[in-house]
Amino acid sequence: MRVAVAGLGPMGRGIARVFAQAGAAVVVVDADEETTARGHARLIEEAAGAPVEVATAGSVADAAREADLFVEAIVERFEVKRTLLEQLRAAGNEKLVVASNTSSLSIGEMGTAYGDPARVVGMHFFNPPTKMRLVEIIRGPRTDPAVVELARQWASALGKTAVLCADSPNFIVNRVCRPLYYESQLLVTQGMTPPAIDAVVRGALGHRMGPLELLDFTGLVTHLGSSETAFREFGDPRYRPIPLTRQLVRAGTTGRAAGRGYYDYSEGKPREEQ
Ligand code: NAI
Repeated sequence: MRVAVAGLGPMGRGIARVFAQAGAAVVVVDADEETTARGHARLIEEAAGAPVEVATAGSVADAAREADLFVEAIVERFEVKRTLLEQLRAAGNEKLVVASNTSSLSIGEMGTAYGDPARVVGMHFFNPPTKMRLVEIIRGPRTDPAVVELARQWASALGKTAVLCADSPNFIVNRVCRPLYYESQLLVTQGMTPPAIDAVVRGALGHRMGPLELLDFTGLVTHLGSSETAFREFGDPRYRPIPLTRQLVRAGTTGRAAGRGYYDYSEGKPREEQ
């Protein structure tokens, strides 16, 4: 099987690795040549010596031309994804299955942007894709059932548990977690500390990670994108991103990868305070 992956952030790198480790011929591409080379080097480094063969492509069209499956894991902004889907369509590979790793955006709308909605499906992996077993498979309103079935089979072949979801903003996990993220962030503005909030959620609810450490791990830019989707789609104030989230994003303190978010990672691990 031939798989192309676009976007070499933590998600794209992890998705490329799981497919390569399962024996697929994988090619990756990012926004430009230099970013692709950097992302590819990081992907190989993260594989920590495990034999992972992943090639790079010079453009989205080059990556797509020979592929069976194209997974897009680029930034969570519809207009950026639209441009990529248009480039992808221009590659002229009619048999291609296009899977989006979006956390929140409409698969139906992506299908329209691609110009062949029957071929577009959601394959929502969780972070890190190399460890997390769950994959949400999202069927757009016009996705061909055979394409949904292929996505489900591919996820199973990776050893993942595939759960079929309707094309509703944020799908299942990110929707169910919205109130947890919202209230936890609101509590920070009301004088509670992130370690206290996370300790309570881990201890009382048995979650492996507290909501604020998880948001730092996800990245606040991606989280803000998902919140904006839910708020835009439903207009319900309980989905409205709180000002603190925007402040953190505007200040560049966007989470773990940036060295600081709700926690400070400048010395490698979060500051413990309570
Ligand atoms: P990220 O922002 O860290 O990485 C995105 C990558 O896409 C960057 O390397 C960027 O250079 C590249 N990119 C941007 N425009 C591009 C283009 N036109 N063509 C090719 N590459 C382009 O994002 P991350 O966290 O890896 O997430 C990617 C996607 O996966 C988003 O849709 C996000 O919602 C979704 N996702 C994220 C999760 C998380 O925990 N971070 C979990 C599950 C899904």
